[in-house]
Amino acid sequence: MQIGIDKINFYTPHLYVDMNKLAIARNQEPEKFTIGIGQDEMAVAPITQDPVTLAANAAWNMLDEADKEQIDFVIFGTESGIDHSKSGAVYVHHLLGLKKEARAIEVKQACYGGTAAIQLAKGHIALNPTSKVLVLASDIARYGLNTPGEVTQGAGAVAILISADPRILVLEDEVSYRTDEIMDFWRPVYSDTAYVDGKYSNEQYISFFSHVWTAHKEKTGFDLNDFEALCYHLPYTKMGLKALRTIYDDKTEADKERLVENYQISTRYNRKVGNIYTASLYLSLLSLLEQQENLRDGSRIGLFSYGSGAVGEFFTGILQPNYRKYLHTAEHTTMFEKRQEVSIAEYEEIFKQELPKDGSTLDLNIEEDPAPICVAGIKDHMRQYVNKQKV
Ligand code: COA
Repeated sequence: MQIGIDKINFYTPHLYVDMNKLAIARNQEPEKFTIGIGQDEMAVAPITQDPVTLAANAAWNMLDEADKEQIDFVIFGTESGIDHSKSGAVYVHHLLGLKKEARAIEVKQACYGGTAAIQLAKGHIALNPTSKVLVLASDIARYGLNTPGEVTQGAGAVAILISADPRILVLEDEVSYRTDEIMDFWRPVYSDTAYVDGKYSNEQYISFFSHVWTAHKEKTGFDLNDFEALCYHLPYTKMGLKALRTIYDDKTEADKERLVENYQISTRYNRKVGNIYTASLYLSLLSLLEQQENLRDGSRIGLFSYGSGAVGEFFTGILQPNYRKYLHTAEHTTMFEKRQEVSIAEYEEIFKQELPKDGSTLDLNIEEDPAPICVAGIKDHMRQYVNKQKV
């Protein structure tokens, strides 16, 4: 049985910051942000969006009634979840109106959570071939104002439907993974923002990639010419390029040209959205599938997932016939076109806004947020979610 991605969609909030302007405000050369780090714009989440609503918005227009009938497992990968106990999956399950005969859980291992969710989903479909699993990867990346990591923030979610006989990408069975206990990036439960040792984190990313890529080549016999494209977890778009550069040399000019071109295309959406932790790899995949018009059915795509702390995994997929028909390219173009730029002062103001933590009631104006699904406020420590389009 073949298992993989049957549907995939993403959502990012309607506000963004221009990285040239952020660089100037932080007394940095704009080229450091746009070339050295590789980010052009950064999505900003208004207070009416959280990782739950971002995930629900990503899935909302993707599912039809038949999918809803077949989904019996919702897996939410995130590292910016809203509750230490209750999973984001349960909220999304309700907001989408999915059937109650389902499991719903949250998984965590930094930016690797979305990949962990996909592999769990694959196992579930292998045992239950007629069901479908809704995988959500959703995050708001926050390093703090005026920190070196500020340029690698962002907000958004990717929703993926995993099924048997998928229409977009069959995931091949051979995978290579690695775990090692390191402190490159972490967020203690008392902290709203992440701690990161940036240089060490970059080194570990490359080291994990090198291990799993080598292991995978040995296991499968694949080499560069077996891949049409490689997609990477992208905390910022230069990061994947650094990893890609480690695996080609003068002897592989044609492979290099193809892989670098496809890599650049796979970063287009990420350059506009920023870091969305668990969803970054899948935003990159989506960027490649929607923006590279010359990809052929049957092509093999390699995917490298990295979650600090750390777990790395390399896995592969084969593009299915007519996969383009099942993408939402035009909707994503419109979503980007409709975004509104905010000034640096406005972004800083939004960054500081937070829901009350003392049990008091706050009602938010959700009419200013064009998203169908919003946080409408908080009452008795319970977030009030609204799906404006659910009848
Ligand atoms: N024009 C072009 N490039 C420039 C430049 C300019 N004017 N000024 C600097 N650069 C380049 C640097 O050469 C460097 O490129 P390189 O990495 O290829 O050598 C890059 O811009 C970044 O500069 P650097 O001085 O290293 O930035 P920094 O010390 O402020 O670090 C981050 C910034 C974002 C790289 C760092 O904070 C980081 O890695 N954070 C995130 C790590 C992470 O997300 N880990 C999680 C898991 S992956």
